[in-house]
Order: sequence, then structure tokens, then C-alpha cells
Amino acid sequence: MEKWTQGWLAYRPVKEAGNAQLAGSMKLTGFDREHPIVQNAVSEFCRGIKGMLGISTVLACSGEPGKGVSVERRQEIPAEGYHIQETGGVVNLYASDEAGILYGIFHILRLIAMEEALAGIDAACRPDNPLRMYDHWDNLDGSIERGYSGNSFFFQDNKILVNERTRDYCRLAASVGINGVVINNVNVKEAATWLITERYLGQLGKMAELFAGYGIRLFLSLNFAAPIELGGPDSADPFDGKVTDWWRQKIAQVYEAVPELGGFLVKADSEGRPGPFTYGRTQADGANMLADLVRPYGGIILWRCFVYNCTQDWRDTKTDRARAAYDNFIGTDGDYRDNVILQIKNGPMDFQIREPVSPLFGALQKTNQMLEVQIAQEYTGHQIDVCYLVPMFKEALDFNTCAGCPSRNTCTGDAACCDKRSTVADVVSGRTMHNRNAGLCAVCNTGSDENWTGNDLAGANFYGFGRLAYDTGLTAAEIAEEWIRLALSNDREVVDTVRRILLTSRETYEKYTSPLGIGWMVTPMLHYGPSVDGYEYSRWGTYHRADWQGIGVDRTKQGTGYAQQYANPNASLYDCAETCPEELLLFFHHLPYQYRLRSGKTIIQHIYDSHFEGVEEVEEMIACWKKLAGKVEERTFENVSERFARQLENAREWRDQVNTCFYRKCGIPDEKGRQIY
Ligand code: GCU
Repeated sequence: MEKWTQGWLAYRPVKEAGNAQLAGSMKLTGFDREHPIVQNAVSEFCRGIKGMLGISTVLACSGEPGKGVSVERRQEIPAEGYHIQETGGVVNLYASDEAGILYGIFHILRLIAMEEALAGIDAACRPDNPLRMYDHWDNLDGSIERGYSGNSFFFQDNKILVNERTRDYCRLAASVGINGVVINNVNVKEAATWLITERYLGQLGKMAELFAGYGIRLFLSLNFAAPIELGGPDSADPFDGKVTDWWRQKIAQVYEAVPELGGFLVKADSEGRPGPFTYGRTQADGANMLADLVRPYGGIILWRCFVYNCTQDWRDTKTDRARAAYDNFIGTDGDYRDNVILQIKNGPMDFQIREPVSPLFGALQKTNQMLEVQIAQEYTGHQIDVCYLVPMFKEALDFNTCAGCPSRNTCTGDAACCDKRSTVADVVSGRTMHNRNAGLCAVCNTGSDENWTGNDLAGANFYGFGRLAYDTGLTAAEIAEEWIRLALSNDREVVDTVRRILLTSRETYEKYTSPLGIGWMVTPMLHYGPSVDGYEYSRWGTYHRADWQGIGVDRTKQGTGYAQQYANPNASLYDCAETCPEELLLFFHHLPYQYRLRSGKTIIQHIYDSHFEGVEEVEEMIACWKKLAGKVEERTFENVSERFARQLENAREWRDQVNTCFYRKCGIPDEKGRQIY
């Protein structure tokens, strides 16, 4: 018998904080008790109250007076929003739709779990982003591409699983406001191509229905060459009538069996996947063909911008992978149907520990956009190393694209012309284009492991992404604290210690891995552990260009010109080494090892220092964690301790290989005379 934890929905007994009498009963007005979402909301409430306060909720009939939670419909509340207001011993929960009720109930449960009083509460919440999605890279055989926490719980042996774990997954997802889930890998091959056939439609229908009961729409990744591979016409040309007819019938068949389906995600013309380029068509031609066919069913097409040349010659210093998304898509701005959303990775390369924000955001002015981040820790420690990623996502969302600036090209960055901000958050929330087809998605970090995420602490990313997508105004620290108190403990020492570990973890990881925005230097294909030159002579476009004199990629006007893809003042800021943010210096510039940073340190000394510091910080984290023995559940304590031991080994390996490698390249010794090999 498999077992799994309840994550942040553990509903452990808590201090009552005056909440018992407020939460002891529930009354529903204006909502159908039989509606699946309402049913799930009510049963979640009863379960949570029972677990945390040890009382059974009385479900009162409408009209009955008394204290308790009173749920009522209020048309003026925005979709998926809610208002919680306590007056005279009644906790009123208002919403205009069922999802709002579900989210409001989870909010109330969260407060109770954090031992906060419901008395006096007045909280009006609405989602900042229309679409808030987890994208799973699960394969039908049960493996997960870039999965670090066991196997898939959606698929096993080419079958779809719909069971109690699926329900618990939905509860976790809905509790943080997720409203869309892609269940299969973007690389759609073999069995996965068949997901849209009779073979799977029955089970998909069941799964979509279960999801819908939690306000979640199910999406599928699609193989653009499906017509060919499933025995249709021998082409996938979007302009070929036979091809569109095939898709029309296929999509009708899929929606008949899975009416709740949200639509499709497509990775086309990327890393060997087929796409419209094969037929001389644009990305828009491909996306629009599908968009027109799903429109009658209210479907949307999520079209990825991860299109680049993955067979590059490393000798060629003009071709720059970082340029690719912009170069491939900017010319099609405005060509897309309104039910197409371009899904853009946060950075121009591939989920490195530090990258600039993709210059496509904001540069596209007439196209729906969605931000794609990765909580699966592919390049950030495989859920062995702790790496809390919410601060990175906040940075991306806060980035001012300057695209709305009237003096876009001449802007100097002074306040006068920069009062019209258009941050990534503005763009992907739909605020700049006044559209609802926008949002955030995260490549998800879950699997069949007992604790869902491999490392218990990686649960903070699983939780945090959803919370941030719903409420972008939350800080990374607030989200971390919530997660700790819900998933681990309300004990002050636990909260303070783990929060400190989480909030410093990304910088620590960056310190012992790749410096100053250079990225990569990982073991090829595996992407865990160091291999400084592992990708240097490869076809993947991922180089650091280090030699005996200097390091970094010249992406200025004199180099690949990538910096010019940004609006000003970002373009000129990045183009000049003196003004370029230092954490991105080597992303944009090739510089001598003796180049002095603003700290007065040379680049090479910074490399040495940060690598020694990174390892020391891991040692400190471990010492802090050890003090929590007996204060967190034993299973968690053991799980995290075991991961920390591996992280320390990994950090040392990174430190010694990186320092040694650069010392051997440049021959400049460490000023502090520490051990380098
Ligand atoms: C990365 C990752 C691949 C994945 C790809 C993508 O390159 O290593 O496994 O398929 O991103 O986002 O499509």
C-alpha cells in the first residue's frame, strides 16, 4: 500500500486562538451544496477543523442564527476572488463563484493552522493572474523528465491513474490557487502522442472531472506531428486542408469525452520536436490553426517560445542562443488569435540559477504572454540541495521591461520618463493588454515520493509558486513563513531557522556553483554537479568562453548584440560593464580575470571567495538544522538531514573543481592562500 504525506494540509492540532467557536458551524446561502466544488470546499473545511481543533463542524441550514462561518454569494466579487469578514461572531465568506468559496475556505484553514485569530478579520482577495498553472513533465511510462522525487502519480505503465492521490494532489494545488494543470511532458513522443485517442479519453474524462471539482482545468501537451503519427495525413502542415480536417475531428472527439479540457500546450520546432517551420510556416500559423479549432469549446493554446538552434557550432561566436526566443517570435507579434498565449521562460537560456529576464516580455505588445518558471530543480540542485526559488520569481515579476515607456529608445532611466512602469508582473497578469489569457506556470517538482518533492524543503517551492501566482504582492519571506508554519511547525525557533535557510539558499547555491551570471558548468545532460567545460565544446549553445585571460560571453553591441533586444534604459545598462548589474556581469561581458568589481575584488578573487563562502554557508545551514531535532517530525528531520549531507558533498565538489579549473586556466593564486588543487 502506497502512502504519502499531506504536505501543508497536514491539519495538525493547533492552539485554538479563539477560533473554535467561530469555526464550529457553517452556513451556505446562494450556493448549491451539490456543486462539486462546494462539496469539496465543505468537506475540506470539516476535515481541517476536525484535525486542528478537534471539533465536528455543524452544517447549519440557511437562516439559522448563531456564530460560525457563513458563506454567501456576492456578485460584485471578482472571479475566483473572495472576501472574508468577521462581524459579531460570524465569519462571513463572500464570493461570486464556487472557486472563490474554495479559496476562501483554504484561507480560513490556513489562518487557523497558523494559530491566527479569525476575530476581526477583513480580507478581500482576488487573483493577480488569470492563469496559474503547474506543468508536469510526466511520461506515460511513469518516468518524469527532470523529475527528482520519484515517479509520476499521473501515469504508470502507459496507463492513466485516477485515485486518492490524484485527489490529494488537487487539494494541494487548489489550496494555493492553482487553476490549470498540464499533466504530460512537453516532449510528446510515443505513447503520449496517443493521449488524444480513444485509448485514453475515458480516463482523461474522469481525471478532468476530478480536477474540475477543485477549480482546476486539465491541459494536455500535444505532438504537432500527431496527424502523421496517428495514421492521418502524411503531413502536419497547418495550411493543408487535410491536416486541419484531421485536427478538427480529433479535437471534437477529445472535447466530447473531456468537455472540461482547458486546451493544449505545444513545444514546436524545439529540441527535435516537429513544428510549423518544417513546412515554411510561422509559429503563429501553427498556433492559430489549433486555436481556431479549440475555440468552439472555449479552449486555449499555450505555445512555447523555447525555440532555438540546438545544433550550434561552438566555434561560432556570433550565434547566440540567448537571442533565439526574441528573434524567432518578435516578428510575429500581433499575428496570434486571442486564445493563443505565448509561454516564455523567465530567462533567455534555460532556468539557470541567475539569468536576466527574457527580453520578449513587454517587447511583444500585441500578443498574450505567460511566464514559465521551473520549480523542478533541474539546474538548481535536483531537490537534493535546498534552493528556495520564490525570490528569483519575484525578481522576474518585478523587472521593469520599460516597454510602456514613450521614449523607449532614448530613455535614460530617470524617474520622469519611467513613471509608466510595465513590469513582467503587469504583462503576464494581463493588466497591460487588458486580457484574461495570461498568467504564470511552473514546471512542477512533484513525484510519487512519500513527501511529494524529494526534499521536504522543496515543498516550499511547490507551495510558494501557487501562492505567488495568486497573490504577487506577497513577499518571498511571507510565503516561506506560511509554508513553514503549515508544513513543519508554528514553533518560533523552527520558523526562524527554516526561514533563514530558505531565504539564503538561492544565493548560497549560486555562490558554490556558477559565478556572476555565467550559468551552466554542470555535468552535461544530468545537470547536477560540476563540469566546468562540460558544455563548452558542445552543440547546445551554452558556453562560458573562458580562456587563460578572461571569462564571459560578449553580448554587447560588439558581441552578439543580445543586450540590444531590451528596451532602454535596460539595453544600455546591460551593454556597459560599468553599469551592468554585477550578478549578471559575465552573462553580458567577456572580461579579464583581473577586472575589478565594485567591491574592489577582481573577478578571479570573487570566484575563489564565493566558492569558499558557499560551502561555509552550507555547513552553517546544516548546523542550524541539527538544532531542530525533536522540533520537527522525525521523518522530515531525517529526510532533510540526509539531503543536506549530499548537498555539502556537492558544494565541496563544485568549489574545488571550479576554483581549481580557473586557477589552472589563469595561474593567478588565491590572495588568501586557501587550498586549491
Ligand atoms: C530543458 C530541459 C529539457 C526540456 C527543455 C524544455 O532543456 O533540459 O529536458 O525538455 O528544457 O523546456 O522543453
